[in-house]
Amino acid sequence: MKSIVASVLALGAVVVNAAAISPLVNAAAVSPLVTCLNKANVTISTPGGANYSELAEPFNLRLQYSPVVIVLPRTTKHVSDAVVCAAECNVKVQAKSGGHSYASFSSGGKNGSMVIDLQPLQDVEVDANGIAKVGGGVRLGNLADKIYKQAKRAVSHGTCPGVGVGGHFTHGGYGHTSRNWGLALDHIVGVDVVLANGTAVYATQTLYPDVFWAIRGAADSFGIVTNFYLETHEAPESVTYFSYKWGSSLFSDKQAFTDTFLHIQDFATNATIIDSRISFGIYLDGVAAYNLGGTFFGTVDEFKATYEPELLRGIPTPTVPVIVDKYAWYDYLILMSDKTSIIEPLTGYDEHDTFFTKSITVPETQKLSATALDAFWTYIHQPAPVDYFVIINLYGGPGSQINTKDTSFAAYNDRDSLWVFQNYGIGADSIDWIQGLNQAVVQAQPNTTFGAYLNYVDPSLTPAEAHTLYYGEALYAKLLALKGEVDPGSVFWNPQAIGTV
Ligand SMILES: Cc1cc2nc3c(=O)[nH]c(=O)nc-3n(C[C@H](O)[C@H](O)[C@H](O)COP(=O)(O)OP(=O)(O)OC[C@H]3O[C@@H](n4cnc5c(N)ncnc54)[C@H](O)[C@@H]3O)c2cc1C
Ligand SMILES: *[C@@H]1O[C@H](CO)[C@@H](O)[C@H](O)[C@H]1NC(C)=O
Ligand SMILES: *[C@@H]1O[C@H](CO)[C@@H](O)[C@H](O)[C@H]1NC(C)=O
Ligand SMILES: *[C@@H]1O[C@H](CO)[C@@H](O)[C@H](O)[C@H]1NC(C)=O
Ligand SMILES: *[C@@H]1O[C@H](CO)[C@@H](O)[C@H](O)[C@H]1NC(C)=O
Ligand SMILES: *[C@@H]1O[C@H](CO)[C@@H](O)[C@H](O)[C@H]1NC(C)=O
Ligand SMILES: *[C@@H]1O[C@H](CO)[C@@H](O)[C@H](O)[C@H]1NC(C)=O
Repeated sequence: MKSIVASVLALGAVVVNAAAISPLVNAAAVSPLVTCLNKANVTISTPGGANYSELAEPFNLRLQYSPVVIVLPRTTKHVSDAVVCAAECNVKVQAKSGGHSYASFSSGGKNGSMVIDLQPLQDVEVDANGIAKVGGGVRLGNLADKIYKQAKRAVSHGTCPGVGVGGHFTHGGYGHTSRNWGLALDHIVGVDVVLANGTAVYATQTLYPDVFWAIRGAADSFGIVTNFYLETHEAPESVTYFSYKWGSSLFSDKQAFTDTFLHIQDFATNATIIDSRISFGIYLDGVAAYNLGGTFFGTVDEFKATYEPELLRGIPTPTVPVIVDKYAWYDYLILMSDKTSIIEPLTGYDEHDTFFTKSITVPETQKLSATALDAFWTYIHQPAPVDYFVIINLYGGPGSQINTKDTSFAAYNDRDSLWVFQNYGIGADSIDWIQGLNQAVVQAQPNTTFGAYLNYVDPSLTPAEAHTLYYGEALYAKLLALKGEVDPGSVFWNPQAIGTV
């Protein structure tokens, strides 16, 4: 009798949103782990309970996992307590920020993990020095919106407003502002982070410098960032956006296709004109569309006088209309988002896709060869059994602020890429096609150290392949040693985590 009363009382204490009458806790699921979390007064959701299926649903519906518990922390203390409970119960932990992991690692990357869903941590505040304190669950659109509206500030980051800061900023983070301002990751000057033993520390270049280093590139294996401290830039009054489209005709002739890309590559590496202020990417919708679009931190007149003639010199004329337009900063953010607003809901985000993606990082010293481009053309000219697209973004070239740093700055290896390919297959049956596409390019250019981009995490890689492609041997060895010191029990785990074999 006494024990029944005690457990009812314990449950009563946990249901923190009792007013909503839909407790997030499923009473049937009481286990040592739940008991531990209840004692800590942490809001949780367990299988079968209210909100569980919505909270467990990843962005990529191709890879769905069932966490044993989803924790909704409102404070750093809640995160600490939850991590301690998981470690005591031998349960693996992954944070979830925006939930956009291509491999659904933020759902654990396997069944039975603890997911710490940071969506209650939504604060954004810019201080007098332009440092933004940003909660670990903030989505990119809300970040951009708030720092602009509060203080006319900006940081570089990707275009999709639903992506979270937690995964994006700790594993790179590229947008068309990154050649000018560096990666999203490069803006981090401090983190409030919970370590595997539950200790919460404030880590910077001088405080817990090893942790600060590792979090920027391998956060998924080292801790849970509850707050980011980001250096911001004064938002430019306006930028120039440019867009050229060629359509399917560019694909009709292999020679023309390859020569066009080789000219664009020469343009991108031409020190006479290229500096940090320009960035662009090429988008191929199968063989139906070939679009080049980007951003210039300068005027329309300067772009048209200096850049456009050299870009278009000797290549097929793009279709009309060509766009070279001035955009006010906030309008530019909306344009990039491909939506009517960059503001995302604070709970109940419900956008998804079903897909498989691989990436290729192309080293600046080696570039793409004519042979690799020919092989690319030949591959995409086979009848495609699935829908897919390829985006080839410019990371390097003269003046790129992405490539001014190295692995002593952060645990991030990709500092010498010229291009980064994203090969995105739509649907659960797109894996073979995308594997073949990657292979065609890579195999046609042997003796080249191609890598892969951490933020396009590829679940088809073995742990060893992932470690080599993302980090390379020297950096991985350093991360492995540090993992042994700060998380010897591999509390923070996903199938490709540091230390996983
Ligand atoms: C539609 C779409 C558009 C994209 N556009 C771009 C783009 O323009 N540029 C670009 O560079 N990338 C882009 N990406 C890739 C994106 O950057 C990554 O998927 C990114 O990791 C997602 O971050 P998240 O917080 O949403 O992911 P989550 O799935 O929440 O997290 C990803 C990983 O990071 C870990 N993690 C999350 N938060 C924390 C934290 N606070 N502390 C420690 N670890 C944490 C998770 O455990 C998981 O392992 C895009 C992805 C999608 C789906
Ligand atoms: C538990 O959390 C609720 C708010 O969610 C709070 O009102 C209550 O005081 C907390 N109890 C303890 C013991 O911390
Ligand atoms: C749970 O679901 C309800 C109803 O859909 C919603 O109002 C609430 O915001 C959800 N809570 C969380 C934490 O997602
Ligand atoms: C994981 O859980 C999902 C959903 O409950 C289930 O469909 C799947 O079979 C499970 N996978 C494994 C490997 O147990
Ligand atoms: C670089 O650009 C200049 C200016 O347009 C041009 O004259 C020169 O030929 C270009 N160099 C290469 C290698 O394409
Ligand atoms: C392979 O690359 C190395 C270093 O970049 C170079 O020295 C060597 O000549 C290359 N070999 C071939 C066959 O291209
Ligand atoms: C937790 O781990 C960190 C990093 O290894 C260490 O600095 C700290 O002292 C540990 N805290 C406790 C309470 O052991």
